[in-house]
Amino acid sequence: MEQTETKQESVMMPRIGDDAPSFEAATSQGNIKLKDYKGKWLVLFSHPSDFTPVCTTEFVGFQEIYPDLKELNTELLGLSVDSVPSHIAWIRSIEENFNTNIEFPVIADLDKQVAMKYGMIMPGESQVETSRAVFVIDDKQKIRSIIYYPLTTGRNMQEILRLVKALQTTDKHGVSTPANWTEGDKAVVSPPKSQEEAAARAEEEGIEYIDWYISKKDV
Ligand code: BEZ
Repeated sequence: MEQTETKQESVMMPRIGDDAPSFEAATSQGNIKLKDYKGKWLVLFSHPSDFTPVCTTEFVGFQEIYPDLKELNTELLGLSVDSVPSHIAWIRSIEENFNTNIEFPVIADLDKQVAMKYGMIMPGESQVETSRAVFVIDDKQKIRSIIYYPLTTGRNMQEILRLVKALQTTDKHGVSTPANWTEGDKAVVSPPKSQEEAAARAEEEGIEYIDWYISKKDV
C-alpha cells in the first residue's frame, strides 16, 4: 500500500464518559490546573491560532456567552499552541477592535502537551494548529460531550450553551432532551424497561403520552 504524505501521529482521544485528562498549564491569567475547576462545569475549547479571523469572531462569541455559562456554574477555558505574550497581544487587539474584554483564560500550549492529551490536533488537517474542539467537562471532571469543527468553520455559541443546559437538565431531572430542545421545552421521559412498565405508561400522571416508548414532561 502506498504511504500517504500525512504523518499520522498516534494521539490519545478521550471519549464521552472518560475522566478528563489532568493538566497544569500556563495561561493568559497565570498557571491553571484542571483540578482547580473541581465542583464547577468547564467548557475547554481549542482554536487554531491567535490573530486569525474566524478565531477572532469565535472569541467575541465565547465572551458573549460567558456570563450565561457562569450562571450555569460553568467556566470557559481556551487553548491554542500560541504563547502567553501572543494571547495577551491578541486579547488586547480584540478589546481595541471589538470593544470586547476577554475575561476567560487561554492556555498557551506551546509544547502541545494538553492538545495531545485531548486529541485536539487533527494531523490530516493540520500538524501544527489545534482544530476547533470543545470538551464539556462536568463538576466531577468527567467528559460529558465533545464537539469538533474544522479550521474553516466557526462554532455556534448558542449550541454550546444549549448543550451545557441540556446536560445539566438531564442530571437534575433524570430525563433526555429531544432534537432541537431549548430551555423551557418538554423533556423526554426514559422509555419503559419492561412490558409491565410499558402497559402502565399510558396511565402515568404528569406526562404527555405519545406511545409506550415516547412520552414527554415539563422540567
Ligand atoms: C481563522 O481563524 O480564520 C482560521 C484559522 C486557521 C485556518 C483557517 C482559518
